[in-house]
Amino acid sequence: MSRPTVLLLHGPNLNLLGSREPEIYGTATLDDHVQTASASAEARGFDIAHVQSNHEGALIDAIHAARQNHAGIIINPGAFTHSSWAIHDALAAFDGPIIELHLSNPDAREPWRRTSVVSPVSTGSISGFGGDGYRLAVEAMATLLT
Ligand code: DQA
Repeated sequence: MSRPTVLLLHGPNLNLLGSREPEIYGTATLDDHVQTASASAEARGFDIAHVQSNHEGALIDAIHAARQNHAGIIINPGAFTHSSWAIHDALAAFDGPIIELHLSNPDAREPWRRTSVVSPVSTGSISGFGGDGYRLAVEAMATLLT
């Protein structure tokens, strides 16, 4: 039987990680984080499929495709976290576990970041641990999938 895959989804501006506000998001690049997640997943018996987009519709299309192709979703929606009811609805139509992931702790930042429209349709959230959050998210996903 083929190994399950988990969709790792990144929203807007996260392609700039490494050079974008490093005092908040660190100096590791998006590729570095994808490698961390992939290596952790490999050790736990599943694969990571990665998509990053700056466009809301492309993220929604990826979530729809995950309904057929992926056992779970780990999503850092970037600023769409705080506003996109369309991403909320797409995630609500996904049957498997969903982990909301943030590098920073949005609750400790500006007031407008304290609302997440993704949290209500997520199994759980991991925030504020920087790049270590990728390993933590994969570990949590592994538990949810067994
Ligand atoms: C973020 C937090 C969001 O508020 C912000 O818009 C981002 C990154 C994080 O990973 O900490 O783009 O999702």
